[in-house]
Amino acid sequence: MTLWIPDIVERPGPKYRAIAAAIADDIAEGRLAPGAKLPPQRDLSWRLGVTVGTISRAYTEAERQGLVRGEVGRGTYVLRPGLREGFPMRADQSADDIDLSLSFPAPGDEGDYIGDTLRRMADDPGSVDFLDYQSPAGNLRHRAAGAAWLSTTGVHVDADGVVITSGGQNGILVAFSALAQAGDHILTEELTFPGVKSVANMLGLRIQGLPIDEHGVIPEALENACRTQNYRFLYLIPTIHNPTARVMPPERRAALADVAQRHNLMIVEDDIAARCIVNPPAPIATLMPENTVYLTSLSKAVAPGLRIGYLSAPPDLLKRQASIVGASAWMATPISAELATRWIEDGTAEKILDSRRAEAIARFKLATAKLGHNSISATPGCHHIWLTLPEPWRATDYTEEAKRRGIVIAPAEIFAAGRSNAPHAVRICIGMPRQRKKLDYALDVLAEILLSHNMRDIAMV
Ligand SMILES: Cc1ncc(COP(=O)(O)O)c(C=O)c1O
Repeated sequence: MTLWIPDIVERPGPKYRAIAAAIADDIAEGRLAPGAKLPPQRDLSWRLGVTVGTISRAYTEAERQGLVRGEVGRGTYVLRPGLREGFPMRADQSADDIDLSLSFPAPGDEGDYIGDTLRRMADDPGSVDFLDYQSPAGNLRHRAAGAAWLSTTGVHVDADGVVITSGGQNGILVAFSALAQAGDHILTEELTFPGVKSVANMLGLRIQGLPIDEHGVIPEALENACRTQNYRFLYLIPTIHNPTARVMPPERRAALADVAQRHNLMIVEDDIAARCIVNPPAPIATLMPENTVYLTSLSKAVAPGLRIGYLSAPPDLLKRQASIVGASAWMATPISAELATRWIEDGTAEKILDSRRAEAIARFKLATAKLGHNSISATPGCHHIWLTLPEPWRATDYTEEAKRRGIVIAPAEIFAAGRSNAPHAVRICIGMPRQRKKLDYALDVLAEILLSHNMRDIAMV
């Protein structure tokens, strides 16, 4: 393949802009194909007689325009038109904003494996089976891979004890639908994953948020709630809680399991991010398997685009959950389940997880260095941090000021369950920008705002 060299001779203005414009033109005219790798920055700087800094700026500009993407340690690649924005931006967001509002896993080396695995699947005559309907719970080999994945967090079930879902969000919908019906009351932490609020809304369930401390739900509060009302279940995120990033210690898990068992209350345990940290505590499901629905997905550890999640529950409930998968989607996509299965079986899933975790730990260190003098909660390996704001900031004012300066974050209100009060805190997703240097810049801006106390006057009398 001949090396691509941009023609910048007749392009006016700064050199970096000229190079970025040449990248745009050459993509539009087919001289740079989707997936093509741009030349290493040092090579191109030498060939064009400009500094490496100029090339780096040009590539950053092209990335900002959504034309290319820099992959950590691999190089810069041309993106396919239409896929350029990745996750759709919200209407109030500009292309220049740095979005730290969504819980993306930190980038890893997943791009090194996808092509090879898909090629092997393409060459395998058996792959045609994955174009057929399959059992709603998933085929047995795929479920066995799910069981193997669950065993890595200490939940030991066989293939029959697993239902495959289309990711964790679908797992939540399936779990909730099997346990409750419209009008029922359910319990969650007082701050919880917004996807849970959407599902509860959709199903007509009423959420009661339980008070939390730095270890999670307070057992006495659960005890009181169980005494006063008949709740269908308690939904919990004990490991890397979303949004507070806290990890519930084993003693608190045991105390909550004790209350739940005494009141015959089911716990839906969402353990989606457990593998992002090293040695997560044993799930509540290991303490009371008969009263727990355990759900996880490969989204945070391996790849969210796979849309593969795993549910495990007592047998009768699991059967119901499989029927609900059938009623809502028939089954999780078998091609995707096959890809996930191959990655679990051959160890690729663990390699991707290791690379994502290493990047997340580097980002955690960066965030701690820049914001650590404030009150933050985070755990090395997790993909978001929770920043409790110093006086005089309120979460929405701080979020608005950050937005004005081009950084998008999520205020605590978004996570408030039911009508619970939200603290003066924000969630900052450090896994999100693919380039670590963008995060570096965004964290500087966020730290600067905290110091500036530059709140705008409220235009209200
Ligand atoms: C706690 C929690 N549960 C479930 C999900 C949904 O996961 P998935 O992407 O697998 O649907 C998320 C996504 O961020 C999450 O944070």
